Amino acid sequence: MEVAEIREWERISAHSHIRGLGLDENYRAIKKADGMVGQEDAREAAGIVVRMIKEGKFAGNAILIAGPPGSGKTALAIGIAKELGEDVPFVHIAASEIYSAEVKKTEFLTQSLRKAIGVRIHEMRKIYEGKVENLSIDYMQHPYNPYQKIPASATLVLKTKKEKKKLKMDQSFAMQLVQQGVETGDIIQIDADSGRVVKVGISEDAVQEKEFDLASERTMPIPDGPVLKEKEFVYTLTLNDLDVMQSRAGLDIASLLFGSPERKEIGEEVRKRVDSQVRRLVEEGRAELIPGVLFIDECSMLDIETYAFLNKAMEQELSPIIIFATNRGITTVRGTDIKSPFGMPLDLLDRLLVITTKKYGADEMRDIILTRARKEGIKLDNDALNYLVEIGEKASLRYAIQLLAPAWELSGKNEVKKEHVERAYRLFADVKRSVEYLRRMEEEMLYD
Ligand SMILES: Nc1ncnc2c1ncn2[C@@H]1O[C@H](COP(=O)(O)OP(=O)(O)OP(=O)(O)O)[C@@H](O)[C@H]1O
Ligand SMILES: [Mg+2]
Repeated sequence: MEVAEIREWERISAHSHIRGLGLDENYRAIKKADGMVGQEDAREAAGIVVRMIKEGKFAGNAILIAGPPGSGKTALAIGIAKELGEDVPFVHIAASEIYSAEVKKTEFLTQSLRKAIGVRIHEMRKIYEGKVENLSIDYMQHPYNPYQKIPASATLVLKTKKEKKKLKMDQSFAMQLVQQGVETGDIIQIDADSGRVVKVGISEDAVQEKEFDLASERTMPIPDGPVLKEKEFVYTLTLNDLDVMQSRAGLDIASLLFGSPERKEIGEEVRKRVDSQVRRLVEEGRAELIPGVLFIDECSMLDIETYAFLNKAMEQELSPIIIFATNRGITTVRGTDIKSPFGMPLDLLDRLLVITTKKYGADEMRDIILTRARKEGIKLDNDALNYLVEIGEKASLRYAIQLLAPAWELSGKNEVKKEHVERAYRLFADVKRSVEYLRRMEEEMLYD
């Protein structure tokens, strides 16, 4: 598996309990819903943004999520992505990546921007379609991270009114299933050539069994006819997918999905050609453009040139919505000696809506830690939970959550008790403690 794929997986896996913003029909935050806890004002603000994006009223604007470390900024951005819907592209980058990438800064940014614009294509294709009758996903050890497992392959049984078919699929497919939260009872389509999965809804009988919230899911009857058929398949690629296909002769969707091409420069002519092809498809009614979201985390790392580039991109006719996140207040704009709010240039501040997140109280931390533990199938007793909350307040929520997995190992996967958390706390330092330790070491070496 490619490094980029793993990075993407890690990035979402810490937030896999988040299914949306947890708002009611009047866009008010429900205290605990969709895996979200507390932070009500920020969630409601995010809900308004989602509504504006869906109504196409947000073009040319950007959002900044500002708040202390571990206050749910990234979680909020993921919640926005989930609310926007499966086929609205959401691209997540950390500002530091722009500078560490093997391609030029502007190339990396252009690719990221074009990944955040979707093209929904309608096409007659051979597809598998049916209700997921049975689903099993095999996991394997993460190649670098001993505390994580990643999907390795999947087997599923698809059912129509006429027949049942068993399919065995590979890793990229298994990841798509997990990322889209496909469960038994869902109705899905799989493009036979590319393996691309689209979740179209939930079967009526599954809804009755599971007592789902009808408002939030699309319910439908089990499809008729054979599982494998020729049908209009609606799928969404991004402008960047099309650029990559175009720039590599003979590359189709399949190799794009499974081959996971490395980043490299894409010529300007290629992008022009793709743009004019897409324009034609749109004019012929065979495709629609869907502006998505580019989320740029740790934006205090961005320099003035990058900001200028992004500013210009936002003025283009077709631009994704940009969401920045930062935990810095007033600081210097990198590449200048001007101080400004969040280290952002003033012209950008003008078009910015700011959402702030607040530090969590003990009760909220408790709920969040518990939600994470449940999601990972980890059992905790009350003392262990209290102790984790204490650690969350002292160090950070993120660190407390990270200790869950090793504490679970130490308990022999039985039940995490306070002693297991204490042991994990001693064995794995948080950032503050490890820096402190290194500083002491350095001093000792100096004076020895
Ligand atoms: N309101 C919330 N409800 C549920 N889970 C949350 C909430 N806020 C944060 N979390 C979870 O707590 C952990 C830490 O939060 P997150 O990484 O989003 O914070 P952050 O503000 O982005 O931190 P940083 O500044 O370090 O990037 C994540 O696993 C996240 O999913
Ligand atoms: Mg974050």
